[in-house]
Amino acid sequence: MIDNKTLDVKIAASVAKLTELFGNAPEVAVVLGSGWAGAVSLVEEAKHLPYTELSAFPQPKVEGHVNEIVVGKIGAQRVVMLRGRAHTYESVDCTGMAGALRTLKRWGVKALLQTNASGSLRAHTPPGSLMLIADHINAPQRSPLVGEPGSERFVDMSTAYDLELRAHAKKIAQSRNMVLGEGTYCWALGPQFETPAEIRMFAAWGADAVGMSTVPETILARHCGLRVMGLALMTNMAAGLSAEALTHALTLQQAQISGERAAAFLAALVAGMAELPSLQS
Ligand code: HPA
Repeated sequence: MIDNKTLDVKIAASVAKLTELFGNAPEVAVVLGSGWAGAVSLVEEAKHLPYTELSAFPQPKVEGHVNEIVVGKIGAQRVVMLRGRAHTYESVDCTGMAGALRTLKRWGVKALLQTNASGSLRAHTPPGSLMLIADHINAPQRSPLVGEPGSERFVDMSTAYDLELRAHAKKIAQSRNMVLGEGTYCWALGPQFETPAEIRMFAAWGADAVGMSTVPETILARHCGLRVMGLALMTNMAAGLSAEALTHALTLQQAQISGERAAAFLAALVAGMAELPSLQS
């Protein structure tokens, strides 16, 4: 459960620090999931700040992981990228990104672009494919908003993934002759991979991709009024759908193979957001 009183102090301090260092907020924030880190090198005039300087952000528990924000521009669009997210499987707590996302919102960010690595449930999206998230399934039925006060906690999730931003993504994909299917992302708590029986159940529910992130952040972002878009990079066929055993190393390897193309698409998508009037007003 979020301790809003304590968190608010951290958020205020984090917003002050970001404003002091970077001025007004960029309109667009990107959460970089596994396989997407290559996008950092496409940010121009990039300035880096570790999460340890932002008390509302998740504080890294494992040394050696890069946990930082990168602020800069892609084309004409200013952007803040978040490298490193708190996963629910690390601590059972699904509120880990609340402070970071509320800081972004209070700073003035308008849209949150989420990226992740996923297992594919569909033959037409083999490893290496990208999927635009149109909807999600919260399989663990956990919410970061449990204990939140007020009627704002009853968040409408019927179009959690912003229609205009999705249309923008499809347009950019088309202009690059790229296939970008839309589908439903299913959150599985992890950290173990799913069983084949679970994957058959998720497929029957209508899931097209499965992963261990994104959904708590989408809920938190919609609660605080950020517009949300999500892109899933398929790193493997989900459990039982290929002969291969699932390992973290396998998903990282595939993420590395496809990461450059995914990052290039992400950069084009962000650059094009400079022409979306609803983000720039
Ligand atoms: N399942 C859950 N999370 C994942 C997978 C998967 O198959 N691939 C990458 N992240």
